Amino acid sequence: MDSAAPVDPSSTVNSAELSTIPNGGTEPDTLRGRFSSLIANAMENNPYFAAGGGLMILGTGLAVARSGIIKASSLIYRQMIVDLEIQSKDKSYAWFLQWMSKHPHRISKHLSVRTNYVQHDNGSVTTKFALVPGPGNHWIRYKGAFIRITRERSAKMIDLTNGSPFEIVTLTTLYRDRFLFDEILNEAKNIALKSAEGKTVIYTSFGPEWRKFGQPKAKRLLPSVILDKGIKEDILSDVHDFMRNGKWYSDRGIPYRRGYLLYGPPGSGKTSFIQALAGELDYNICILNLSEGNLTDDRLNHLMNNMPERSILLLEDIDAAFNHRTQSGETGFKSSVTFSGLLNALDGVTSSEETITFMTTNHPEKLDPAIMRPGRIDYKVFVGNATPYQVEKMFIKFYPGEEALCKKFVQATANLNVQISTAQLQGLFVMNKDRPKDALEMIDTLRHSSHVI
Ligand SMILES: Nc1ncnc2c1ncn2[C@@H]1O[C@H](COP(=O)(O)OP(=O)(O)OP(=O)(O)O)[C@@H](O)[C@H]1O
Ligand SMILES: [Mg+2]
Repeated sequence: MDSAAPVDPSSTVNSAELSTIPNGGTEPDTLRGRFSSLIANAMENNPYFAAGGGLMILGTGLAVARSGIIKASSLIYRQMIVDLEIQSKDKSYAWFLQWMSKHPHRISKHLSVRTNYVQHDNGSVTTKFALVPGPGNHWIRYKGAFIRITRERSAKMIDLTNGSPFEIVTLTTLYRDRFLFDEILNEAKNIALKSAEGKTVIYTSFGPEWRKFGQPKAKRLLPSVILDKGIKEDILSDVHDFMRNGKWYSDRGIPYRRGYLLYGPPGSGKTSFIQALAGELDYNICILNLSEGNLTDDRLNHLMNNMPERSILLLEDIDAAFNHRTQSGETGFKSSVTFSGLLNALDGVTSSEETITFMTTNHPEKLDPAIMRPGRIDYKVFVGNATPYQVEKMFIKFYPGEEALCKKFVQATANLNVQISTAQLQGLFVMNKDRPKDALEMIDTLRHSSHVI
């Protein structure tokens, strides 16, 4: 205790004098002796003072203990509990949600719905609902371990890749079960890849980003697209050749890219062929339609330089760019891709992987010769209306074994003396499923639906 504090200020005892007094002096005559006995007296005889002192000690003790417990428990927490955080921008995020929605031991009634639509070639739309765990806490049991799953949504941040709120899923479990995280993520990935197996993912642009267009589509098989003799095989062998020669390009410092142009009338199977080719190569496909008004030079450039891996780029209707020499354009369109914008984007792709670009147009005469330079378009092929070869192949594809009728049908189409697209043929055959005779009888309708070019 500080000896100076309770001393009468009038007293003139100095510290030197005090230090000569033996410690805890008992003589009541000295200043310290008097003071000590006063305190002892108070402690013994005054219950309030005694209790206060006791409380003070107890309080201090508790506070120390409390902070100790907090420290210890956070230490135990850190030792025994492990967290895994998955952010919505991470690929495994969607995989994990999908995995969890299928997990059988889920103790949660809080779900949210995720809707996907797929627009088919014929314009019809299929809608699929998936029930995924909603925001909040969920508990699951996985291989005997309890795992807490917290899905949190940020109200302020938006994920630019898909326009949805930024989210985080946190998995918490005991330290000893931490290896389960790895197993869960692998399981989730395998389920997701299985569902994409045999399928082609189609990406379209959404703002500055690529976004999956609906669910992965069943692969279109190459034999289902019937082009004139040799066209498919030639393109396929060229693509294979290109893909085998990465080292050749890098050794010579040439950008590893190849551009293909398919030109010809509508409904001749250009888009269908490119989709089937992507399926054959096990690639995904990124589609940009240059005739869409909301695509600018900057966005085109950005998109082409930020493609998802293993994708073919498909630029549809590239003639649209040739209507607009400059961004402001004589035609008055304010935002659309310009001729120079397209060339720059084609030249500027700086991917370490190979870049395969397919371009389509119905109007090759509108294209500026500058686009035919190697590195922009290296391979160009005409995909035209149905030739007798294609008519025959398509007929047999729809009506296997009907060789005799097929001959008549091929002759009848030739006699019509009009251009018929393969899409028109398909229309006629779909209308007469399993009725080849009716298809032959209705052949005149092709004349009306055809357009002479
Ligand atoms: N050669 C073909 N073989 C098989 N199916 C075809 C063929 N041509 C067209 N089709 C069918 O016709 C429809 C339209 O074909 P697609 O969209 O591929 O034509 P396109 O050449 O891309 O036309 P556009 O120039 O108008 O874009 C599809 O449903 C496709 O299955
Ligand atoms: Mg097309």
